Parts: sequence; structure tokens; C-alpha cells
Amino acid sequence: MTRHEDLLDLALEAAHRAGVLLRDGRPDDLGVAATKSSAVDVVTEMDLASEKLITGFLAEHRPDDGFLGEEGASREGTSGVEWVIDPIDGTVNYLYGRPAWCVSIAARKDGETVAGVVHVPAQGETFRAVLGGGAYLGERRLRVGPAPEFPLALLGTGFGYLKERRLKQADVVRELIPQVRDIRRGGSAAIDLCDVAAGRLDAYYERGLNPWDFAAGDLIAREAGALVGGRPGEEASGELLVAAPPGLFAPLQEQLDRLGAWHD
Ligand code: IPD
Repeated sequence: MTRHEDLLDLALEAAHRAGVLLRDGRPDDLGVAATKSSAVDVVTEMDLASEKLITGFLAEHRPDDGFLGEEGASREGTSGVEWVIDPIDGTVNYLYGRPAWCVSIAARKDGETVAGVVHVPAQGETFRAVLGGGAYLGERRLRVGPAPEFPLALLGTGFGYLKERRLKQADVVRELIPQVRDIRRGGSAAIDLCDVAAGRLDAYYERGLNPWDFAAGDLIAREAGALVGGRPGEEASGELLVAAPPGLFAPLQEQLDRLGAWHD
């Protein structure tokens, strides 16, 4: 039987190895290797190299597992374990030499996320969690604090890469910004979720995420005591993800639903 902690240890090792490659191997003249959904949805040669390193390492240790990676790694496994990998979450930050980028690796067992690592090399921080075992930043156990009143909440969000979606996201921000303390756009969904776990943001929401953006951060936020979901009564998905401490979760979720934040 595979222990969740063993999966976590492998994810930690893979994320650290990728972190060294990305931090020390970033070319000074790093450019865009390819674009995806739009001209501003970019891939660098380092995204590809990081994904190759991570999948190679995991396949060596667990040859029967499946993969789902942002840059195309996709394999049906036979063990019931699937690795969900974002080799660089926050690629635009990485491209510009901004520090808020990370390696995000989650292990799912029979469809449920059981271990997650978000490694942020430029900040020297590694967030981790196993299902039922709590969330940690290094040696510090993370627990979300009491939720502030809505008008005092510091929210995080992110914007997609498609123009139509961004226009809708701007409308939602326009409605929310006069109602809260402020809104941050950090540039990495995985770090945003860890920031909720660590109390660096009171709450986070975004539309249009992919599983590799949020699988690990979702578990870390939940293990720190945050609630994570989608539209009222629904699971977090590409449609909408909302993460907040109990007390702030339902008001934010209802507000976002009322504003139609889940559609373009
Ligand atoms: C992106 C980041 C960003 C979020 C985008 C994601 P990538 O991931 O997480 O914060 O707003 O929706 O696509 O492209 O840097 O891996």
C-alpha cells in the first residue's frame, strides 16, 4: 500500500530538483519558446526542461503511475496514482525575472489529491500537505486565522490569457474592489492558494484554471483550514475556484456567483 507521505517525499524531491534547474539554469536571454491559447500564454524552454526532469524522476521511482502535466505530459497509469504537474506556475513572472513562480506537484490517488507540494525557489519557501496531515511551510504548521469582515478582506485573483475572459474578469474586479480592503494579482495560482493557507491573503478566487494550476495548492489551503470550492454547492473547477477561511468563504462565493464570475 502506498503511503501518502511516500508520495509527498517524492514530490518534494522532484520539486527541489526542478527548482535548482530553474533557478540556476535560467538563461539570461530567456525567451518565449511557444505560445498556447493566445500570444500572451507562453511557454519557455525551461517549462519544458522542468517538466521533463520531473516526469523522468517520478517515472524512475514509480513506473506504473499516470501523469498530467501542463506542457503535455500525459500518461494513463495502472497504479491508481496520478501526478498533476505544473513545471512552472507563474511562467510570465519567471520570464520577467520576478520571484513569484513555483513548481507545483500533486499526487492523486483514485482521483483524490492526497499529497501536494508548492516549491517557490526564489523565495526559499516550500509549502506541503498530505491529506488529513495538515499543511506546512517548512517546519511551521499553517492554519488560517479568523476571517475578517468582507470590507477588510485582502483578496487575490488572477486573469486568464483570453481577451474576452479578461474583459469579464475586469468587470468582476470593478464590482469587488470598492467593497474590500484591496485585491492582489500575484501571477501564480498555486502561490495564491498557499498565501491563503499562510494568511498572506484572506481569500483567493479565479476563473479558468487548469488542474495543474491548483491541485497542490488546493490541498495545502484545505489542510490549513480554508474552504475551497466553485459555484455555491459545487467543487472547485476550471469554471471557478474560491478559497477562503470559513466565515469569508460563503459571502465571497455568493458575491462571485451573483456577478457571474464563472462565465465569460
Ligand atoms: C497561470 C498562473 C496565473 C493564473 C493563470 C494560470 P501558468 O499559470 O497560475 O496566476 O492567473 O490562470 O494559467 O501559465 O503560469 O502556469
